[in-house]
Amino acid sequence: MTFETQVIPAAPEAHATPLLILLVPQGALPPSLAALDKASGGAIARCYAAGDFTGKKDDTVLVYVDGPRPRLLLVGVGVPGEGSRSAIRRGTAIGSRRARTLGMPSAAVFVTPEARGKLDPKDLGQVAAEGAAQGAWHFLKLKQAPEEKKPPYERLEILAPADADAIRAGHATGAAIAAGHLACRGIQVLPGNHLPPRRIGEIAAELGPRLGITVTVLDKAAIVKEGMGALLAIAQGSAEDPRFIVLEYKGADGPPVVLIGKGVTFDTGGISIKPAQGMEDMKYDMSGAAAVLGTFEMLGRLRPKLHVVGLIPSAENMPSGAAIKPGDVVTSHLGKTIEVVNTDAEGRLLLADALSYARRFSPACVVDIATLTGAITVALGNTASGLMGTDAALVRDLLAAGVRAHERAWELPLWDDYRDLNKSEVADVKNTGGRAAGSISAGWFLREFAESFPWAHLDIAGTAYSDRDDPAMGKGPTGMGVRLFSEFLLARV
Ligand code: BES
Ligand code: MN
Ligand code: ZN
Repeated sequence: MTFETQVIPAAPEAHATPLLILLVPQGALPPSLAALDKASGGAIARCYAAGDFTGKKDDTVLVYVDGPRPRLLLVGVGVPGEGSRSAIRRGTAIGSRRARTLGMPSAAVFVTPEARGKLDPKDLGQVAAEGAAQGAWHFLKLKQAPEEKKPPYERLEILAPADADAIRAGHATGAAIAAGHLACRGIQVLPGNHLPPRRIGEIAAELGPRLGITVTVLDKAAIVKEGMGALLAIAQGSAEDPRFIVLEYKGADGPPVVLIGKGVTFDTGGISIKPAQGMEDMKYDMSGAAAVLGTFEMLGRLRPKLHVVGLIPSAENMPSGAAIKPGDVVTSHLGKTIEVVNTDAEGRLLLADALSYARRFSPACVVDIATLTGAITVALGNTASGLMGTDAALVRDLLAAGVRAHERAWELPLWDDYRDLNKSEVADVKNTGGRAAGSISAGWFLREFAESFPWAHLDIAGTAYSDRDDPAMGKGPTGMGVRLFSEFLLARV
């Protein structure tokens, strides 16, 4: 899909567009819309006079009027000042999504000053760009005969009658983050047969020349040579060979931030096979990898003064005559041995080898992101990602980035008391710690391999995709992680 946003220094009553989206706060008709209302024959005032539209969060009303703006869409963002970055991002996403489903080739959005409250113009430009792309995202590539043929939705104009320069500056940041978010969702959504590890390697390699980043893809032979016994153990049951992908963006010297993304292109569970019900969702088990790729899309476009390395261990987890069996013991890249008591706890094996590989960069810090445990959804639902780490400052910065991005995380404790959950009788560590504290024992397993650098782990099993048709996001992949990583990284410039 091609979609772009643009900042236009025009007042809503002086701009022509097939659809004008108006973000309004909860309450009465905003005075800033008086001129537009007059030019629209009083249609906006009539919406309020009827009494059923009050600008509550997510409320919308679409009216058809005469003139150069034949459609007006009012979108309520609730009480101004209540988390205004996320309210404006969400309102813009709802409007943008509606523009697409209405079949508009383009639309314009005006954030009323009343809805905007104290939101800084730079933030406004950023979150409007992010929300616009969020609403525009769709995936039709694998439909031979789409139900309805609509013209593609290609552009959302952001009206800026005041503060245009500051809004433009924020928009440049937001547009790059939005491109990363779109790229992430486009990769996440691909089914297992369209996205084996080999294909993730190809997608990463294509980013290199386009974005001015260095990409190295290790094939199976190179992975064997590197000694990644844990990654290989998971991959051995599949007809698809694994890949290990290294991305490097070098906008500055010095120790890099290393981002690691779980890239299980399909997780059947292996010999510890999963139930059939809902197993198709396990195509999303590469969402961590997609978040890392999306973050590099942002970096390549924005080119901040940062040094960032991305690592993606990728494999397909399958049962077969060649598959790893419960009880098998494998030797990891770090040298620690792992008893694989459950082949469905595969992600942590891939991540273990990537964490060990990260040592060679002498990183400033390492953050991994993974759809790691069903238990994180029991704890936090679909609202927050789980966060654990060894460094208080790193955890604090990730939590703050999550709030700014509205991709919120919540910390779980990694106290020493939990370490023994992964104690094995026969190996250095076993790969599952039982049902209780399942996300924490997974975190502790990773910690066993995170030697010699500050490290944190994001468990996005509950947030990477959604089966609820949210008006701002829709069903399916959420792009979780790209905006959080973008805020985290850009705060370090
Ligand atoms: N990919 C799954 C985790 C997952 C579950 C992601 C649900 C998204 C939705 C992971 O590989 C897994 O299977 N984890 C097991 C671990 C268990 C065997 C210790 C789980 O959560 O059941
Ligand atoms: Mn699994
Ligand atoms: Zn998995």
